[in-house]
Amino acid sequence: MVAGTVAVDAAHALRLESVRKVYGSGVNAVTALDGVTVGLRRGAFTAVMGPSGSGKSTFLHCAAGLDRPTSGRVLLGETDLAGLKENALTELRRQRIGFVFQAYNLIPALTVEQNITLPLRFAGTRPDKAWLREIVERVGIANRLEHRPAELSGGQQQRVAIARALVTRPEVLLADEPTGALDTRTGRQVLELLRGLVDTVGQTVLMVTHDPVAASFAHSVVFLADGRLAGELHQPTPDLVVRRLTNLGEW
Ligand SMILES: Nc1ncnc2c1ncn2[C@@H]1O[C@H](COP(=O)(O)OP(=O)(O)OP(=O)(O)O)[C@@H](O)[C@H]1O
Ligand SMILES: [Mg+2]
Repeated sequence: MVAGTVAVDAAHALRLESVRKVYGSGVNAVTALDGVTVGLRRGAFTAVMGPSGSGKSTFLHCAAGLDRPTSGRVLLGETDLAGLKENALTELRRQRIGFVFQAYNLIPALTVEQNITLPLRFAGTRPDKAWLREIVERVGIANRLEHRPAELSGGQQQRVAIARALVTRPEVLLADEPTGALDTRTGRQVLELLRGLVDTVGQTVLMVTHDPVAASFAHSVVFLADGRLAGELHQPTPDLVVRRLTNLGEW
């Protein structure tokens, strides 16, 4: 391949190639990611697991363009994130990536509908009414659009956050411990929702989780240990995930 060109890889919505991330320098340098290559298949649900400090959040931040790799590259579709200036990267995050965190990060003073459409306001575009209707029905909050976040349960707030992440029709939905603050039952509903989005509208989802049951909702699990890829599991079950984690050592 000619230097500077990007291989068009239609199968992958997002690709990390030999990504290395070193924080700090000299004796204080910490290698958080050490040459990780992972492709996220378009329309697939992928979970990332690994011991504390193995580089999961760093992986997600590099994948999202929130953090720049020390070397290697990140491709969102055909776009090489390294080639983008800060403004363009911000724009890309707003329009092409959806984020869901453990904390819902909803704005208390805004209604549910205003929270969901906020990314569009930032992007300066109008809501597509039909799409808005579809996502609020899909996440099950169509009858709460005029409510404030404080009037909703934790699970409902997380579903609003998911709707907000979907409103721009992102190519990839990135989730960092999306069920971390929810009870088992409510967490399950959120996971079923994410899996349903993958199965019906072909949403590509990447989720970092500590929970083997949550990981079992994904099509495949990528394991990290000490900043390196430590295996991949297809069609994960909670038991298989636990067994693999145990073999990673220090779990
Ligand atoms: N901003 C930073 N500066 C220095 N070191 C960092 C920074 N961020 C992360 N690290 C280090 O990089 C390594 C990987 O951290 P990371 O947060 O990616 O792990 P993690 O797998 O998400 O862990 P956890 O499960 O505890 O959230 C750790 O050793 C961490 O201390
Ligand atoms: Mg983390």
